[in-house]
Amino acid sequence: MDQNVCEDGLVTDRLVAHYEERSRGGAGLLVLETSAVSYPHGATARHQPALSHDGVVPGLRRLGEAVHAHGSKLVVQANHHGRISGVDTAEDRPCLVPSLPLPDTDPMSIMADTTMDELVAMSALTGGKMPTYAEATVEDLSAVVGKFADAAVRVQAAGLDGLEVHAGHGYLLDTFLSPAWNKRTDRYGGSEENRARLLVEVVEAVRARCGPGFAILVRLNGRDDALEGGITPDLAARYAAVAADAGADAIHVTAYSSITGGPGFTEGPLPWRPCQYEELARTVKAAVNVPVIAVGRIRPDDGERILADGGADLIAMGRQLLADPDLPNRLAEGRPDLVRPCINCFVCVAQNFWSAAPVCAVNAQLGRQGWPEPKPAAPPRHVVVVGGGPGGMEAARVAAERGHRVTLLERANHLGGTARFSSLTTPLNGDLVRWMAAALAEAGVEVRTATTATPTMVAALRPDAVVVATGAVRDRPDVPGVNLSHVLSGDDLRNLLTGEGGVSDQRSGPFVRLALAVARALGITTDMDRVRALSRRWMPIGRR
Ligand SMILES: Cc1cc2nc3c(=O)[nH]c(=O)nc-3n(C[C@H](O)[C@H](O)[C@H](O)COP(=O)(O)O)c2cc1C
Ligand code: SF4
Repeated sequence: MDQNVCEDGLVTDRLVAHYEERSRGGAGLLVLETSAVSYPHGATARHQPALSHDGVVPGLRRLGEAVHAHGSKLVVQANHHGRISGVDTAEDRPCLVPSLPLPDTDPMSIMADTTMDELVAMSALTGGKMPTYAEATVEDLSAVVGKFADAAVRVQAAGLDGLEVHAGHGYLLDTFLSPAWNKRTDRYGGSEENRARLLVEVVEAVRARCGPGFAILVRLNGRDDALEGGITPDLAARYAAVAADAGADAIHVTAYSSITGGPGFTEGPLPWRPCQYEELARTVKAAVNVPVIAVGRIRPDDGERILADGGADLIAMGRQLLADPDLPNRLAEGRPDLVRPCINCFVCVAQNFWSAAPVCAVNAQLGRQGWPEPKPAAPPRHVVVVGGGPGGMEAARVAAERGHRVTLLERANHLGGTARFSSLTTPLNGDLVRWMAAALAEAGVEVRTATTATPTMVAALRPDAVVVATGAVRDRPDVPGVNLSHVLSGDDLRNLLTGEGGVSDQRSGPFVRLALAVARALGITTDMDRVRALSRRWMPIGRR
């Protein structure tokens, strides 16, 4: 997955550290992020890996050795980014497309969901230039095929295990496969067979140059029918069979949406629903005799289910391994409770839109591979953390894992603070709180809930260091009507629903007060799933 930390297309220490961390964590097969076969031509970002000259081989070899040392395999995702070649736009080259005019998409629709700061950051890659497009000539296509094959030879020379040919996500090979984008009338368009020709030629050329012992994966959209006449699941399955016949060893079934605005990106390639592409993988699986890789918010239990009933042969995890590189080892150790969950917040991939390295809302180390690792504490000390919200819990965990003795004090009778409250609308935040609590227990943190920290009691604990993580303090906004009885702030709501603090009787009507008193007496307010269910009856929390 794009880390965007290469320099002039060359592998850097940060890139090696990122993939090595995931191999150390137990991943069986890693796919190096989208890499440009004819860099800088057809490249989507300046800091992506290049595969376009022999100078890239030593870096790839170093990367491969680091990954192989922990027993993982590594294939490189090879790509020509076609109409999404931002570097071509920046350097005043047209982006290659199968045919012109382009289908009727609205490239400006993305602006509706994007802030001005984000738009400015995005336009930095292209220097604010708008893309221009050129219909690929047959000579262009022949050169592209040669570039893929040359790239594969370099990957093989570096000792890596194979190539993943990217034929999805709106890039060049995908646009040739898509009837919505490919309106050619020569031998690269017009019929299903012709639209698949470029992909077939690439796979055959790689196989011819690299021989039978080199793995070729093909990443395909299991669907992209956002535009009329796009790729349907059945068409994708037929393309997968063609790719396998051409020599592909496995098909990796992703998805895409050719529209940029609205839900486009969360339809594909970044799904928001669990197992969003599962059926697409099953459809392909029924059509081919080579292994099928399923992807798309597949969490461990679902992965086991899909493998067990033959829906796919391998499970790929993207964001889950950004959030927790140790996920495979945790599962192998029988400790799924210690897997730090991805909360599906899309923070990581947003960075890719302005060519930055992904950061993660739950894994502070992602994107900071150059930063020093937390070291074992010397000498260990007694750290008291005041506040059991996500900030306090994370501070306590890291301190304890470094070897400090840690005592965490929390006023409420449960951990989680605002993250727990926010799980009313965003249940995955509840998973994060559960993981944090499990990680604290594993690290040996002494947690004291229902304990209000005072200077005297903290001093009595004789700490060497105190971390105050009691959360933000917010004023009520100064707007007319803010003091009306039916106007509740977020903090009022939180206090009402969780019973954590006081809300004046005036603010909550008699019915709500009675209902909450009963709920508290029954212990319902300690269970956020039940609070969520009940609250839907009288306010729009958690409704979709
Ligand atoms: C930060 C980030 C970078 C990604 N980079 C790539 C990429 O380089 N090539 C690619 O084919 N998909 C890329 N993807 C998509 C993932 O490979 C994967 O298909 C998608 O995230 C869905 O899987 P998941 O739900 O397990 O994350 C990226 C996703 C993210 C979040
Ligand atoms: S940033 Fe959010 S979506 Fe991305 S890996 Fe981290 S938790 Fe998951």
